[in-house]
Amino acid sequence: MFPTDFQWGVATAAFQIEGATEEDGRGPSTWDTFCREPGRVRDGHTADVACDHYHRWAEDLDLIAGLGARAYRFSIAWPRVQPTGSGAANSKGLDFYDRLVDGLAERGIAAVPTLYHWDLPQPLEDAGGWMNRDTAHRFAEYAALVAERLADRVDLWITLNEPMVVMAYGYAFGIYAPGRALMLDALPTAHHQLLGHGLAVAALRDAGAERVGIANHHTPAWPVDDTAEDAEAAAAFDDLLNWQFADPILLGRYPDLGLDMSHVRDGDLEVIGAPIDALGVNYYHPTGIAAPTDDSLPFAMRDLTGFPTTGMGWPVVPDGLHRLLVDLRDRYGAALPPVYITESGCSYDESLDDDARIGFLNAHVGAVQAAMHDGVDVRGYFVWSLLDNFEWAEGYAPRFGLVHVDYATQRRTPRASYGWYRDLIAGSS
Ligand code: FCB
Repeated sequence: MFPTDFQWGVATAAFQIEGATEEDGRGPSTWDTFCREPGRVRDGHTADVACDHYHRWAEDLDLIAGLGARAYRFSIAWPRVQPTGSGAANSKGLDFYDRLVDGLAERGIAAVPTLYHWDLPQPLEDAGGWMNRDTAHRFAEYAALVAERLADRVDLWITLNEPMVVMAYGYAFGIYAPGRALMLDALPTAHHQLLGHGLAVAALRDAGAERVGIANHHTPAWPVDDTAEDAEAAAAFDDLLNWQFADPILLGRYPDLGLDMSHVRDGDLEVIGAPIDALGVNYYHPTGIAAPTDDSLPFAMRDLTGFPTTGMGWPVVPDGLHRLLVDLRDRYGAALPPVYITESGCSYDESLDDDARIGFLNAHVGAVQAAMHDGVDVRGYFVWSLLDNFEWAEGYAPRFGLVHVDYATQRRTPRASYGWYRDLIAGSS
């Protein structure tokens, strides 16, 4: 059984659903730019319209209310609030989120906004993006502008979404915006995002925010073979892609990465290590790891075999979530704040009879329950995602929604999994 105040929710992100990319003064983001570069996004898709949520938000909030969900994790588009990434707020941009949080309050749903879910204002990228330390200060200023408007109605603030993915996919491998392939030279982007997080925590609290956290992507490193070399490679992967993003926040120090850390200045770790009220965990699957095959990275990534896979080809490993939660508790002990699963979900084909999704979610909810049984303090679970949406470099091909979206008509149709989730929530209250 889950506690009656367990926060069942759904999650989305601004760029993936809003559309209206040129409306009410919104400026361009790195993802708008990236979508226009040939070959970057599957089938040349853009998010110009996406789910048209900017105009259909009330209908979408009704869908969340229809689930009986207690919380909604959405993201705020920085380029709507500050079209160039700095300076005064664009009040029309803030008005949209004002309406949204009022709409949530009217429906009795807690607001859980994420301040940065990858849509960096393009002018900031032109000045170096997250390679530039100054971006951390710009982020804190933006956070303050949003909090001044919304802090009285927000339940839990999430500063950043998955800084690991921004570093790795965006700046190291170049497969997400801004498409830079710096490999290990991308390391400062981790620190600058974490510094931005720490500075934003302070700015949010100054503006009256009550609860603040971060949503980290955790992909446990599973050695593919039982050899010392694979185990060593997995430990290196874990340090670089998982613990690098949690240790500084929860322990005030970096794991030993064996890399040049001269971008870290005196005092930064105190800023980053400021207390937080929640750790958001986004979990999709573990990653198979083998010994490196060249000098570019200290590990090689491999598909994990022996598991069923989702439409993305990702292995379905609910036990990985159970083990991850127990590992977090063991690693951080009393320093671990209450945990929220801020994303968990899967893409399958378009069909409305999505038994596979129900099975996936049921097993992952079970994994959370098992971890809670083992004593891990988990307070909420957010399904990714409410709606089918723009899945980054994969465009509109993947279907992650509890609700199907017909992109030609923008018609929303709840899938079987929507009814399953509604019944689960009703049964646990
Ligand atoms: C996560 C992202 C989210 C979504 C899911 C499938 O890494 O945070 O926006 O794309 O993957």
